[in-house]
Amino acid sequence: MMPNRQGSCKVDNEGATLTRWAPDRTLTFQFMADVDVHVLHNTDAPWNTFSSHDYWRRNYLEFQAEDREIIRRVSRFFRDARAGRPRVQQAIDVGSGTNLYPALLMLPWTEKILLTDFSASNVGWLRRHLEDNSAAWTWRPFWHEMHEAEGYNQIGEPLKQLQAACDSVQERAGVEQRSVFDLPEAEWDLGTMFFVAESITEDPAEFRAAVARFIGALKPGAPFAAAFMAGSDGYPVAGTRFPALPITAADVRDHLIALGAGGLSVEPLRTKPKVRKGYAGMIVATGFACDQWGQ
Ligand SMILES: C[S@@+](CC[C@H](N)C(=O)[O-])C[C@H]1O[C@@H](n2cnc3c(N)ncnc32)[C@H](O)[C@@H]1O
Repeated sequence: MMPNRQGSCKVDNEGATLTRWAPDRTLTFQFMADVDVHVLHNTDAPWNTFSSHDYWRRNYLEFQAEDREIIRRVSRFFRDARAGRPRVQQAIDVGSGTNLYPALLMLPWTEKILLTDFSASNVGWLRRHLEDNSAAWTWRPFWHEMHEAEGYNQIGEPLKQLQAACDSVQERAGVEQRSVFDLPEAEWDLGTMFFVAESITEDPAEFRAAVARFIGALKPGAPFAAAFMAGSDGYPVAGTRFPALPITAADVRDHLIALGAGGLSVEPLRTKPKVRKGYAGMIVATGFACDQWGQ
């Protein structure tokens, strides 16, 4: 589903007010009880010294059943949204951390990809790993899960194509140290954000703002996929605890609807939570930014 007319969105820094210019109206909403004492905010956590290797080892050293289900759902959504159409110009993955499979999921559908993260250590890790030409490319099992699907099956050498899409000689491609809260408006044609908005803060207002900034950074009608941890109480990385907000699928759905996203699917995974203790499951959301069907 694509929007039948153009529009654009504007979100304030708190993400609590959405102004939609077409149709013209302003919404102010709240969807969770906001707690303002003793919560860790995004800038309270030591992101620049985040241990990329430990995070990668805990989450992506082995290919896990939850990733398989996410890959199946998101590859199907992107195929349905983009197959048979020209590649879009530019895609963004927000808060990439040490995860390259969101970028692989966007690879058949875009010319350029920008990977962004707030953490200096993760930005360094991403740059190094994009250049990793070793035979034991650790993302092969992840690619294997998508490589037979329409569009993905046109890519013979995923690492080479990923390197080309992320070649920083091109404008708006490569790896950049950037906060989700500083993304410009309506710049990208395709986007992913996996385990970021709810896993960078304990503050509901910051969670909302991060989702709003991600959606707002996409052009109207741009397809997106986002993944979330449900009920997370934070996570350890090399002995440091990083903040999270225990959200539900309903929180994500309500917020995305309020932000004007269309063609929405927000569903918990069927796969049982196994990656670590301290969360209730994973949620995958797919849709189109500021889609205006039915309005
Ligand atoms: C739980 S990790 C998720 C990483 C990766 N997307 C994944 O799927 O595993 C959260 C990521 O958000 C990044 N992050 C923290 N604050 C951020 C901000 N303000 N803007 C963008 N990224 C941020 C962290 O450095 C970390 O890489």
